[in-house]
Amino acid sequence: MIDPKTVKNKALVEWVDKVAKLTTPTNVVWCDGSQEEANELYEAMIAKKACIKLNQQKRPGCYYFRSDPRDVARVESRTFICSKTQQEAGPTNNWMDPKEMKEKLMGLFKGCMKGRTMYVIPFSMGPIGGPISQIGVEITDSPYVVVSMRIMARVSPKVLDVLGENGKFIPCLHSVGKPINSPEDDVAWPCNPENTYITHFPETREIISFGSGYGGNALLGKKCFSLRIASVMGRDEGWMAEHMLILGVRDPKGRKSYVTGAFPSACGKTNFAMLIAPKELQDKGWKITCVGDDIAWIKPGPDGRLYAINPENGFFGVAPGTSMKTNPNAMLSCSKNTIFTNVALTDDGDVWWEGMTKEPPAHLIDWHGNDWTPESGTPAAHPNSRFAAPIVNCPCLDENAEKLEGVPISAIVIGGRRPKGIPLVYESFNWTHGVYLGAMMGSERTAAAEGKQGELRSDPMAMLPFAGYNMAHYLGHLVKMGKGLSQTPRFYHVNWFRRDAEGNFMWPGFGANARVLAWIVNRQNGEAKAKETAIGFVPEYDDLDWDGMDYSKDTFNELMSYDAETVSAQPLKEELYEQLPHALKIEREALLERLSK
Ligand code: OXD
Ligand code: MN
Repeated sequence: MIDPKTVKNKALVEWVDKVAKLTTPTNVVWCDGSQEEANELYEAMIAKKACIKLNQQKRPGCYYFRSDPRDVARVESRTFICSKTQQEAGPTNNWMDPKEMKEKLMGLFKGCMKGRTMYVIPFSMGPIGGPISQIGVEITDSPYVVVSMRIMARVSPKVLDVLGENGKFIPCLHSVGKPINSPEDDVAWPCNPENTYITHFPETREIISFGSGYGGNALLGKKCFSLRIASVMGRDEGWMAEHMLILGVRDPKGRKSYVTGAFPSACGKTNFAMLIAPKELQDKGWKITCVGDDIAWIKPGPDGRLYAINPENGFFGVAPGTSMKTNPNAMLSCSKNTIFTNVALTDDGDVWWEGMTKEPPAHLIDWHGNDWTPESGTPAAHPNSRFAAPIVNCPCLDENAEKLEGVPISAIVIGGRRPKGIPLVYESFNWTHGVYLGAMMGSERTAAAEGKQGELRSDPMAMLPFAGYNMAHYLGHLVKMGKGLSQTPRFYHVNWFRRDAEGNFMWPGFGANARVLAWIVNRQNGEAKAKETAIGFVPEYDDLDWDGMDYSKDTFNELMSYDAETVSAQPLKEELYEQLPHALKIEREALLERLSK
C-alpha cells in the first residue's frame, strides 16, 4: 500500500479525489503491487468465495476465479471510440459524442462503488522509465483487477517516482458497476452486463470502463491503453502501437533477428510467440525466444531502424488448446504465480481445460461451478478461459525482453485463419505492399470475437477492434512509418490454417512453422532464394529446411498455390475502402494487373 500523502503528482491526486467523490467507495487504497498486498487481497477474496487457492504443491502462488457467465470476453459491441467527430472514429468503430458519453458515464459512475474499496493502481506499460514506456493509473473497484494488473503490467511505487510532480499519465477508470446496496449485491463476480461501456476518449487520452470485470474490458493497460489510446499517441508522435507478438531468432551463424507478428485473436499467436524449433533445426543452431505475445510498441531508433518493446509484463493467454504438446513454454509459464479464470477445477485442486491432456479427468468442477464428467456434453472450461502468467516465468524469454530501447525489427509476419486459396507464406514486394496485405487481412471467426463462428472476418492488421481512430487513417499512418527508414522490414503473409478438400489442415503448424520462420530470417539476411509471383516472393520446395520432416513436394506445391479470386478479394467495408490512402488503392490495382497477366 502506498501512503497517499507521499503522492506528489497534483493532477493524479485531484483526479483520484474527484472519482472518490463521484463513486462514493467505503475506502480508497493506493496499491504498490507488492506480493504482501496481493496475498491480502487473495485472502479477502477467498473468504468471500470469489477466489480459490489452487493446490500449492502443484501450482504455487496460483489462484482460480470463475466469472459471471454473462461476463466472459471482450465486448466489442459495447466498446466505443468517443472522438470529437464520428469521422475520426471511422467506419469500423462504435462512436458516441464524447460529451454525451461522459454524461451517460457520470450518471452510471455516481455512487457506483458504494460498499466497495476503490483501488488506485499506478502502472507502467513497458519497463519503468524506458524511453518507449508510458505510465497509466487505473482506478478500479475490483480486487481481481488489482491482482491481475500486477501480473500484466508493472505496478510499483517507482512509477510514481518517474511520474514526479508534473508527469503525464493516462487515467484509466474502471468499475464493475455493482454498488453494494444490500448484502445480496456482494456477489463473487460483480458485473453489470446491461450497462457495459468500454470507452476511449482519444483527444483527452482517457479510458473509462463500466460494467465488466473480465480481461480486456477491465485490465485497462492492455487493449484499451496499449492499443486503442496508444495507437492515437503513435499517430501523433510518429510511432506504432500494434497488435503484434515479438520473437527473437538466433540463426546457425549466431546472428540475432527480431520478428513481429500480427494475427487476429485466436490464431495461435501465443503459440507462435513461444515457438520451439524442431530438433533438427535446433541442432544446427536455430533458437527462438519470446519478447511478447500480444502487443508491440514500435519506434524508429537513432539508427533509422524500427525498434519494438512489449509493453506488457505477463501473458493473458487463452487456456483451451494449450498443452505440453502444443505450447510447453506457455504451460511452464503458468506453472506458478498465475491467475486462472473460467477454466475447470480438478479434484486435487489443480486446473484443467479442453486440450490440456488427451484424456479428460473422470471428474471436474466446470467453469460454472458444477460437477462435470466427460459424459456431460458441455465444455468444462469456457472457450475463452484464460491464464494471466508473469512473463518472467517464460522459459524461452528473450535476453533483451527488458531492454529499455527495445529490439530491432527485421520482419513483420501477418496472417489469419484462411481455409482456402491463401498460400503458406509469401513475401511483400515492399513496405507499402506489406501494409496493403495487412489491410486485406481476414480470419475465420472464433470465440474471442462476437458473431457467427466460421465466418470470415475482415481484420486489417489484426487491429479491427483495437485501432483508436479511423482505420483508414491508421493504415495511412502505417504507410508513412515505412518512409525514411535505414532498413525497412518486409512483410510476410502466412497461413497455418489451410484445409484440403476433406477439410483437414494441410500444414501441421506449431514447430513446423519454425521452418517458415527460418526462411523469413534467411531472406532478410539475403541468404534464401525465392520465386517472384504475382502476389509476392515465395519459397520453392528446396528453399525450406525439411530436415526431420516428411512433407512431399506435391503437397507443398498445393499448399503454396493461390486462388486469384481469394488473394485479390477486397473484404473491407465499402466505406472503409473508399477512405483508404491512395497508395494502398494503387497496390490493389497493381495486384489485379499482375494477376491478369
Ligand atoms: C486477446 C485478443 O485477448 O486479442 O489478446 O482478444
Ligand atoms: Mn490480442
